[in-house]
Amino acid sequence: MKKTIRLDKMLGNLGYGTRSGIKALVRQGAIAVNGARAKDPGMQIDPEADEVVLDGEKIVYRDTVYVLLNKPAGYVSATEDRRDRVVLELLDEEVNVLSPFPVGRLDKDTEGLLLLTNDGKLSHELLSPRKHVPKTYQALVEGAAGENDVALFQEGVTLDDGYRTLPALLRIVSVGQAGTLPDHPEAGKAAERMKKVSALRGPELQAAIDAGSPLSWIELTIQEGKYHQVKRMFEAVGKKVLYLRRVAMGPLPLDESLEVGEWRELTEEEVTALREYRKESEGQ
Ligand code: URA
Repeated sequence: MKKTIRLDKMLGNLGYGTRSGIKALVRQGAIAVNGARAKDPGMQIDPEADEVVLDGEKIVYRDTVYVLLNKPAGYVSATEDRRDRVVLELLDEEVNVLSPFPVGRLDKDTEGLLLLTNDGKLSHELLSPRKHVPKTYQALVEGAAGENDVALFQEGVTLDDGYRTLPALLRIVSVGQAGTLPDHPEAGKAAERMKKVSALRGPELQAAIDAGSPLSWIELTIQEGKYHQVKRMFEAVGKKVLYLRRVAMGPLPLDESLEVGEWRELTEEEVTALREYRKESEGQ
């Protein structure tokens, strides 16, 4: 089936102006389609076959966008908010014009992998509770995580509202001596981030250290995405998450070359992997 789009809509979607602005560009003769001056802003364009040139620049059309953001603490996973900064403020206008939205939520104080897209179907599939797309988190936790917790998480723990979680995979990376950070570079980085990003979290970490609490650096993979799930799972076993970052969602790992607050668009391979992954999990 041939997929065409009006010229003014195509350019509008890409952020080149309003319908009337594009009409004016057509009138000025600034737009050429397949080498001929465009005369009608409503003409139908096949973005895959037709060549559109605006002021000498070839326009590459796309209507979907997939962004991998290394989310910093302090931003909410929303498209707008009356009080807080939102993750879209971290992206560029050329991407925001395509109206991406976050695929699921990370808490305001959680960092790490956040996928943003305008592909509602893929987002829906990735978030569907029936699909159990795994999400992996790393966390600095107050309390000494042990094999007992691994077993409890494997069985599923009961949250404060009575919900019993699906089995989750807990990996204890490092447990520090009482009152010291776990001896792992990532735990050190997490502590630095806590001090840097929040007037509240820095003192909270210091209080845990001063109280002589053991601190653990862990990795946890969960198959669902209940509200504050990781924090509440640790609460259920008497521990407190001090710092949390997401490092993977399904087949997509966090790109460690992205500094906190940086983003990039997904490669075609990564988008395909997300789609294929969805299909694989449908078969389960
Ligand atoms: N679990 C949480 O508690 N918070 C998040 O942001 C994500 C998972």
